[in-house]
Amino acid sequence: MSRVLVVGSLNADLVVRTERFPGPGETVAGADLTTGPGGKGANQAVAAARLGARAGVAVAMVGAIGDDDHGRTVRDAVAAAGADVAAVVVRPGTATGTAVITVDATGDNTIVVSPGANAGLAAADLPSFDDVAVLTLSLEIPTPTVLAAARAARAAGTTVLLNLSPSAAVPPELLDATDVLVVNEHEAALLGDHPVARSVVTRGAAGCEVHDPGPDTVTTVEAMRVDPVDTTGSGDAFLAAVAVRLAAGDDLADAARYAVRAGALAVTVAGAQLPVVGEDERLRFGL
Ligand code: RIB
Repeated sequence: MSRVLVVGSLNADLVVRTERFPGPGETVAGADLTTGPGGKGANQAVAAARLGARAGVAVAMVGAIGDDDHGRTVRDAVAAAGADVAAVVVRPGTATGTAVITVDATGDNTIVVSPGANAGLAAADLPSFDDVAVLTLSLEIPTPTVLAAARAARAAGTTVLLNLSPSAAVPPELLDATDVLVVNEHEAALLGDHPVARSVVTRGAAGCEVHDPGPDTVTTVEAMRVDPVDTTGSGDAFLAAVAVRLAAGDDLADAARYAVRAGALAVTVAGAQLPVVGEDERLRFGL
């Protein structure tokens, strides 16, 4: 069975819906606070496990949580989706990461993350990559750990997907150890002119562009039209879907065509993690 490994963050998402975002120094009223599982890594693992189940792709996650209710809740959510969480380590004395999220009436969001245990995930926590087909990485864990994972995976012949989110400049050696970059337009601007062989640039409701190989061969993929409820986690579902389809043998353009549909499904529900849907909904989204 082909395997996807997610090395990344696990958070508790503290969410308040509000009509519009406050400006600096402004207070606005919101709806009731909800708490749910999140974190870019956990969201990717949940989406990959749900999508991978149909494709014969197994999923595992590596990450760090505190010895607290938030940590157990998010780890259990990843496990319930079908991913192996044996390599999610518990750090007593450290809080699980939290994300303070506001979602406005259009479904758009703002997110502030307190890393907690995610900040302690180290290269020593990484497993062997020998039987991993595709690795997904994003930037809510320390960059040296991301780099160590990318290099170890590369050395084992694993395809390395890197999402530059939260947006940050990254060392060139990390880009060199990456097979496919997945970025939004803002993150793409941070890359400067460092050459990247294969990339997907996501454009929200405008779909995405696949550069494979290099910047001269571009495939444009249109988005699905949906009424957004909550865009939180859509990018994570997208990345996970690309990983699953690459692990299943698709080329990058076909993987991206599938991923825009997974990303579209993710925005139709509240919360950061790809939902379980009925057969009608699955067929409507072509997943
Ligand atoms: O990508 C969405 C995620 O970003 C949220 O679940 C939140 O935890 C932050 O990590």
